[in-house]
Amino acid sequence: MNIQFSGTMHLWKQILLGALPSALPSALGQNVIDLSGDGWTVSSSALNISVPGHVPSHAHLDLFAAGVIDDPYHGLNDFNLRWIANNNWTYTSKPIQGLSNDAKASWLVFNGLDTFTTIEFCGQQIATTDNQFRQYTFDISDALNNCKQSPTVSLNFGSCPNIANAIAADPNSQKWPPGIQGVFELPNREYIRKEQSDFGWDWGPAFSPVGPWQKVYLVQSESETSAYVLNTGFDIYRKGQINHIAPDQSQPWVVNASIDFVGSLPERPSMDIEIKNINSGEILKSGALDNVTVVGQAITGQTMVDAEAPRLWWPTGMGNQSLYNVTVTIRNNEQDIASVTKRTGFRTIFLDRSNITEEQISRGIAPGANWHFEVNGREFYAKGSNIIPPDAFWPRVTEAKMKRLFDAVVAGNQNMLRVWSSSIYLPDFMYDLADERGVLLWSEFQFSDALYPTDQPFLDNVAAEVVYNVRRVNHHPSLALWAGGNEIESLELPTAKKKAPGSYEFLVGDYEHLFITLILPLVYENSRSISYMPSSTNNGFLKVDLSAPVPMVERYDNGTDQEGYYYGDTDYYNYDSSVAFDFEGYPVGRFANEFGYHSMPSLQTWRQAVDEEDLYFNSSTIVLRNHHYPSNGPDTHNFKNASMGMAEMTLAVERYYPIPNKDDSIANFSAWCHATQLFQADMYKSEIQFYRRGSGMPERQLGSLYWQLEDIWQAPTWAGIEYDGRWKVLHYTARDIYQPIIVSPFWNSSTGDLSVYVTSDLWETAHGNVSFKWTDLSGKPISSNAGTPDTESFSVGALNTTCIYDTNIAKISLPNVKNAVLIIELTAQGHLPNQENGSLATFTHRNYFTPSYPKDLELKDPELQLSHDSESNTFTVEAQSAVSLYTWLDYPAGVVGYFEDNSFTLAAGEKRTLRFVVQKDETGGRWVDDVTVRSLWDQTTS
Ligand SMILES: *[C@@H]1O[C@H](CO)[C@@H](O)[C@H](O)[C@H]1NC(C)=O
Ligand SMILES: *[C@@H]1O[C@H](CO)[C@@H](O)[C@H](O)[C@H]1NC(C)=O
Ligand SMILES: *[C@@H]1O[C@H](CO)[C@@H](O)[C@H](O)[C@H]1NC(C)=O
Ligand SMILES: *[C@@H]1O[C@H](CO)[C@@H](O)[C@H](O)[C@H]1NC(C)=O
Ligand SMILES: *[C@@H]1O[C@H](CO)[C@@H](O)[C@H](O)[C@H]1NC(C)=O
Repeated sequence: MNIQFSGTMHLWKQILLGALPSALPSALGQNVIDLSGDGWTVSSSALNISVPGHVPSHAHLDLFAAGVIDDPYHGLNDFNLRWIANNNWTYTSKPIQGLSNDAKASWLVFNGLDTFTTIEFCGQQIATTDNQFRQYTFDISDALNNCKQSPTVSLNFGSCPNIANAIAADPNSQKWPPGIQGVFELPNREYIRKEQSDFGWDWGPAFSPVGPWQKVYLVQSESETSAYVLNTGFDIYRKGQINHIAPDQSQPWVVNASIDFVGSLPERPSMDIEIKNINSGEILKSGALDNVTVVGQAITGQTMVDAEAPRLWWPTGMGNQSLYNVTVTIRNNEQDIASVTKRTGFRTIFLDRSNITEEQISRGIAPGANWHFEVNGREFYAKGSNIIPPDAFWPRVTEAKMKRLFDAVVAGNQNMLRVWSSSIYLPDFMYDLADERGVLLWSEFQFSDALYPTDQPFLDNVAAEVVYNVRRVNHHPSLALWAGGNEIESLELPTAKKKAPGSYEFLVGDYEHLFITLILPLVYENSRSISYMPSSTNNGFLKVDLSAPVPMVERYDNGTDQEGYYYGDTDYYNYDSSVAFDFEGYPVGRFANEFGYHSMPSLQTWRQAVDEEDLYFNSSTIVLRNHHYPSNGPDTHNFKNASMGMAEMTLAVERYYPIPNKDDSIANFSAWCHATQLFQADMYKSEIQFYRRGSGMPERQLGSLYWQLEDIWQAPTWAGIEYDGRWKVLHYTARDIYQPIIVSPFWNSSTGDLSVYVTSDLWETAHGNVSFKWTDLSGKPISSNAGTPDTESFSVGALNTTCIYDTNIAKISLPNVKNAVLIIELTAQGHLPNQENGSLATFTHRNYFTPSYPKDLELKDPELQLSHDSESNTFTVEAQSAVSLYTWLDYPAGVVGYFEDNSFTLAAGEKRTLRFVVQKDETGGRWVDDVTVRSLWDQTTS
């Protein structure tokens, strides 16, 4: 098939430029001055403030560094510091040194300006900008020639809330019926191209920071032909591959290398390529590229690589992460003009939304449409979560911190993250970490829970942003998908239909104009390798016709009401905790891309941000840091909605768990925080087990990505990892339940039905045994094992599930359901995908079941004993006298890392030895002395 676009599509490549802030590309006849670093001034004339500045940065960070403000994350500073967002801030460089004496042309290159900027160079206005997500290049040759002294750059950043409000108030700007736009704190974010959660979200603060948040360069060309590399668009795909159709794995690879530059090329430039395996150093391919074309400021060429020649890149758990350096050089005869190296990998990744075939139906798959990913032509189960901005201020997000986060993702048995769409387009270093670790990144354009304008300037601005970012990250093998936005089809359009039925058709048309007519061709023109869908959570498409004005016809709800048919992915939240474990109420679909419930962070994390006297559950500071539910406006006294969210957590605990009642108020607060985490983890476990079991059910469910991986700050949220990297109970529990082969009880507490399933996401059948052992809570065996078999053997198919035990609590002979626990242990043998030695691996999994909720259990004191062995650096926990449920090892502030396991069950008398993986230690090793252990029993003791 030939990709062709109708005349209404724009060819954006030539006007769009982008680049990476990595190493300075040095090339012949070029002078590149890095303006990043110290030596800047940040000032507000209105407020009469002037402090030293830094690039990249945000005004909040520089004001904090200068001591003008307290830590923005402390207490209620997200409200107290609104004045920063309401003012303009000007960044002025020191006089620029090192300029060339014989430059032919000079440019300023900004890799990111947040967001509305007026740029002056040597006192002359150069340009204005209005998009945080674009790279900007401005010709300053004339301004430099006119400059009489050492020039400075000055960037006047406008107040984003004020500008957004002014656009909204303009009678010419697009308006929507009331009640449709998702407002969290500051309104009108849909008008501006800035990180949408900067205006508040239900898990984060609304700082709306401004500043030069990426690097700044001054580039000069000293010869007639020179090229400064701004961005690349490297695309590796199977010959003939089309984004929305399964690639043919027998085809050779096409390597399409495109470079965006500033400068001027000779008449007939050529391009060379070298593709080198970064482990072995072996050269896969070298030589000239074919079909070199120059269009505007981009030069492109291609080469082919034999189908079987490269080592494939696989996600974690499915094989190796083979990586290659691709070096492309632009040449003029024998002379190198510019050269750039990107690390990449060979893989295909495809989101299959094709109709279910007769053949699939004959295998027991329900009709409808597929909705799952395939890597290198293989179906797999996607396990993971949603990543949100790890900080409200991106310039302080360090590579070291993100390394710890991605290590925690892999340690958590997660192979995919959804890079949710109201953040930023992740920096390359994060895609690099994902490439190395085999974490697939379902990536989204920055549009979420709102309807967006479709006037031409807005569309042009979006187009530039899309092309820059699609090209910038396309070489990363971890890139798994592009989605237009979040919850627009599943939430915004249905809301519009309900609240403004008369405008619905129009609003759907508008939606399609932006997310399909505009964005889809821009993705397809710049990547043959990545699937696109207009919005996350959808029912797939009916057809794709690239020459139609709306090239993808979304299914929406068209025909999806037929019983037993499944079409899409699901997004599910239910804050009525009375049905939290009612798995029959969970959504049945092909893939679960969002679900969850919030919990409190740990005491250690609260202490980073909240004063000691505010450390109680309903203190104003704690309550107002809870943004679920949001204030729906700039109100800084959102007690009403925030209290509703607090109540959801307390009610859930009261419903299922022993209620903390410790004498020490801080200890009681800590126990409450922990209890909310137990509920959260149990609920996610219940959902994930259900979704994973769906891989062997008619819905053929092939993914669960929970909401949310990590925190942006210290607050009650859905996160599994707290702001500084500390794991909540959730991340440990998800790690456990995301193991390749798991055994899970499914209990309907109303009917008493109990069934136990083994679920596997291996790609071949696995065999094993499950043992069942009933005891009372003191550890005494229940006679005749309560009539339950001691063991069951099983075999479980590839990406499948099997029921190994099915009964009803009434049929089990239990003397007292409040004093009984079933320990379920699995041992299995199977093959991990793509293991080079092909040997069998052994898998184990332990689960447990109690026929009563934790609060009703007649718990006994397990008399936990903890010891540390400094030689082997391990901790040993022993349940000396009773069963220990939710055994929790806790570590002090000052160290970041994780235990190999946590919140686990110990049988009476059982000992467990485990390690703590240290990711960062500021205690000089002394943290080991402050590790403690507790269990469910301790929640209520004084
Ligand atoms: C604030 O910044 C914006 C964006 O650069 C600019 O348009 C506006 O004139 C500035 N206002 C003041 C008072 O400096
Ligand atoms: C791959 O490229 C990077 C960036 O240019 C470089 O630092 C690295 O040494 C290269 N690796 C190999 C094996 O050539
Ligand atoms: C170069 O273009 C020709 C004509 O479109 C095509 O047949 C050939 O495959 C291209 N070469 C590469 C390496 O893609
Ligand atoms: C898929 O099924 C839908 C009906 O649900 C139909 O309209 C569409 O044409 C089918 N697509 C293909 C490619 O067969
Ligand atoms: C369903 O899809 C068909 C085929 O594209 C279309 O003709 C019909 O109007 C759609 N119906 C609805 C309710 O969207």
